Amino acid sequence: RRLLGTAGAAGAAGLVVGGAGGAFGAATLRDEPAALASVGATGVPFRDGAHQAGITTPQQARGHLVAFDLTAGQTRKSVAALLRRWSATAEQLIGGRLETGDDQIAHDAGPNSLTVTFGFGGSLFPKTGLEALAPQALAPLPPFSADALDPARSNGDLWVQIGSDDPLVAFHALRVLQKAAGDTARVRWQMNGFNRTPGATPRPMTSRNLMGQVDGTNNPQPTDPDFDARIFVPAGGTARSPQWMAGGSYAVVRRIRMLLDSWDHLSVERQEKVIGRRKSDGSPLSGGTETTPVDLDKRDAQGAPAIAGDAHIRVAAPASNGGAAMLRRPFSYHDGIGSDGAPDAGLLFVCWQADPQRGFVPVQRKLDRGDGLSRFLRHESSALFAVPGAPGPGEYVGQRLLE
Ligand code: HEM
Repeated sequence: RRLLGTAGAAGAAGLVVGGAGGAFGAATLRDEPAALASVGATGVPFRDGAHQAGITTPQQARGHLVAFDLTAGQTRKSVAALLRRWSATAEQLIGGRLETGDDQIAHDAGPNSLTVTFGFGGSLFPKTGLEALAPQALAPLPPFSADALDPARSNGDLWVQIGSDDPLVAFHALRVLQKAAGDTARVRWQMNGFNRTPGATPRPMTSRNLMGQVDGTNNPQPTDPDFDARIFVPAGGTARSPQWMAGGSYAVVRRIRMLLDSWDHLSVERQEKVIGRRKSDGSPLSGGTETTPVDLDKRDAQGAPAIAGDAHIRVAAPASNGGAAMLRRPFSYHDGIGSDGAPDAGLLFVCWQADPQRGFVPVQRKLDRGDGLSRFLRHESSALFAVPGAPGPGEYVGQRLLE
């Protein structure tokens, strides 16, 4: 059965597992799989088509981003063994049937749209003798003038993105995968994020960020004719992405602190000018509703541009960046109050593209030169990962690189 847009999961197209023949029915939920609410029962297949899950999957309510570094003395072979272990574990977690040593943190729960997505950082390749296969597209991101990056919370050899609509299911996956890393890799950094809970709004709506803005409206849509070309590496690879990255994508991860105390001093009208959209419903200041196309040429009654020259949506738009586009799929974060007395909160900005040079890099360069939003933000950490395509039947993630 396919569930379309149920339970407020913004446009979720999930697969309900459980019941006769469902992987979930037999093992974890022996008694009454049908009694699960649709949020809990919604599963996202681990092997489904050319791409790993967690990229076009609707944003889940809970997310963990974790980077690992290899311990000393690891080889291509031991990394292959780790990815084989991780892939098998992720598949079992998603199917609700951990074969050994389950700590039962997620006991009783359905899959809750759990996804686990694996990526490789540039530093992995020289450590494993795989330099010749390192994608050019994985070259380090350039520095930006407004960067205030913490190296300890940036980069990493391996990356795992976990998303689920249930915090216990998400934590369980994190714990199990961290244990499965064994002595091969150690956590370098971990970030925890969240989005709207499915069902929190009267109908499925675009999520809001911690500045209160509707965030995610003008993302490329899987139905766009150029979506795949913008977000995924094509079947044969490219000059900047070797064949093993076919069906893969590049994830730029930026921990972006929001300077909320300064932001809160602005009137709502000023806040709307900074973005170029209304706060109440996300509609562009050029008029219409949230989904009305933005009219960057529109002028107001005084002849001034309806969307200011430095408005975030003008500076970030593909039209201002030679067509550069990315799929933004962030989580919000809140790690308490910082030493400055302000919330340590903001966006775990994750964006996906077929090549960062035609996505994040040109757009961030332009934003960095002075969009209205940048002065309320601080980029505190940064990473870039090559996320290979989905494993074929019997394969593990990254096998085409590591075998
Ligand atoms: C649009 C917020 C960082 C790229 C938007 C919108 C909001 C927003 C509210 C309008 C609604 C939408 O279309 O989603 C933020 C916040 C950020 C942030 C709060 C940081 C905390 C970034 C960064 C980039 C970026 C770092 C890329 C380098 C874009 C793009 C759009 C957009 C491409 C769509 C523009 C269009 O074509 O209309 N952002 N953004 N944003 N943002 Fe950001």
